[in-house]
Amino acid sequence: VDNGLGRTPQMGWSSWNHFGCNINEMTIRSTVDALISTGLTKAGYTYVNLDDCWADNQRTKEGYMAADPKKFPSGIKALVDYVHSKGLKLGLYSSAGTRTCSNTMPGSLGYEDIDAKTFASWGVDYFKYDNCFRDGSSETVRFPRMSFALRKAGRRPIFYSICEWGMRKVATWGGQYGNSWRTAGDIKDTWASMLSNIDTNDAYARYAKPGGWNDPDMLEVGNGGMTNGEYVVHVSLWAIAKAPLIIGCDVRTVSKETLEILSNPEVIAINQDRLGIQGKKVRKYDNDEIEIWAGPLSQRRTAVLLLNRGATGSRRITAAWSDIGVGPGLAVEARDVWKHETVPGRFTGSLTAEVAPHSCRLFVLTPVGRQQGGAS
Ligand code: DGJ
Repeated sequence: VDNGLGRTPQMGWSSWNHFGCNINEMTIRSTVDALISTGLTKAGYTYVNLDDCWADNQRTKEGYMAADPKKFPSGIKALVDYVHSKGLKLGLYSSAGTRTCSNTMPGSLGYEDIDAKTFASWGVDYFKYDNCFRDGSSETVRFPRMSFALRKAGRRPIFYSICEWGMRKVATWGGQYGNSWRTAGDIKDTWASMLSNIDTNDAYARYAKPGGWNDPDMLEVGNGGMTNGEYVVHVSLWAIAKAPLIIGCDVRTVSKETLEILSNPEVIAINQDRLGIQGKKVRKYDNDEIEIWAGPLSQRRTAVLLLNRGATGSRRITAAWSDIGVGPGLAVEARDVWKHETVPGRFTGSLTAEVAPHSCRLFVLTPVGRQQGGAS
């Protein structure tokens, strides 16, 4: 939606994947501090998002949503002020139903205007809208309603994250109302779930653009269910697919390896490239064990991902220019963004690399000229 936000996919942290309902103001404040001390905010992760379970079980007598007094005794406004004082932004959450999915707090159905005004009055910057405890009415009615409410609520624009799990072909209308929209159900911290979500998301590539992004769900990196090699694949796919990069682990205890996977500047630059074109799967073979993903970047560059989904052998994978959208006669330089090295030599026609099982290689190709005697 054209509210000036989400010109590149949003980056930040959310409480849900690691903490679930187990959140409180000390946890969030120490997370803010850790995001800063680890350098993650400098890398671009600037939204700090409370997910489900932040509010009191019932509305106030006057009908307002209020913070859970046990978890957030200082209130949300104080937390927003703290987050803002650190140069970061705060996200809040509700559901387009009578209750949120945890059933621990009210939803915003029928209270769109009053809730949007409340959140705006607290200085909230980002709002995720879930889809539990709904009435019979369509997502195409309930989710736009909150979009209008947020836009009317005044103050600064609020980033609107639509979370209706890909129902009613949300990608085809989400961009009119929101800055991102979930294309799939909840991610789990497994290789199969991660791949399934990005595959579902891939079908909607053409609907992503600056202002509105397909959302295959938040990152599981650092939560322990996958190997570091698998988490590299997770981040690489999210980067090339222009997916929101919302960290979902406990950043207060994050390992050096996890930090490196999350804060690689060259990988983040692919995700945040100003062209904002979602890269996609351009080829698959060998029972879908081998895949090539690619997408254009600014300055006539191309991002290309060679992926070995197989669990056993290491494989040599070749990306042909005709598959990845590089002009036939074009010579390129190839930058391996995980190894932080430019591959020696120039490449024309194709690029081949060795890829270990459950691993990938991610390159940025930069044109350096035309092959002698090559086509136009
Ligand atoms: C379902 C959403 O898809 C999740 O991301 C999370 O917000 C939970 N609900 C919270 O209950």
